Amino acid sequence: MVNITLTLNGKKIQAEVEPRLSLADFLREQQRQHSVHLGCEHGVCGACTIVMNGQIARSCIALAAALDGADIWTLEGLDADPTIAVLRDTFHEQHGLQCGFCTPAMLITAREIVSSKAELTEAGVREALAGNICRCTGYAGIVRAVLSAGERLRQPGAAAAAGATTGTQSRGSH
Ligand code: FES
Ligand code: FES
Repeated sequence: MVNITLTLNGKKIQAEVEPRLSLADFLREQQRQHSVHLGCEHGVCGACTIVMNGQIARSCIALAAALDGADIWTLEGLDADPTIAVLRDTFHEQHGLQCGFCTPAMLITAREIVSSKAELTEAGVREALAGNICRCTGYAGIVRAVLSAGERLRQPGAAAAAGATTGTQSRGSH
């Protein structure tokens, strides 16, 4: 067993983990972070996306034992994040989810996309979301939701609040 200390959703935690335990299984089974979904478990579908040290990452292909000192955020920890709040609204308005399986990871990836200072285009959003697979294939609504959130967040005053929780407010800082 390996002892690790890391920060999860802003709180320092200590744990003992098997050397081969994936970060995704650690988060789901030991830390009850059930927004972390498991699809392919091979780094392909994006369902297990989390924020690791300020960057989005696939937790199924990371080993928990290698993450001593890491800073991890899951969607549970981003509940009060202002960018996630906007995305939650636009996903609802634009019908950006069906079964919801891909949604937590889509929200985390979308948060990164809308934090970019660049003007969003449909093609750019589709490309940025390419690593997140929606098995319900509801991409049109998801893309509309991200574009709509991007527009909303570019309104005066919105940008300052965006990303405040984890300090990942611009793509450049990732
Ligand atoms: S479950 Fe991690 S990328 Fe598919
Ligand atoms: S909404 Fe069902 S997998 Fe995307």
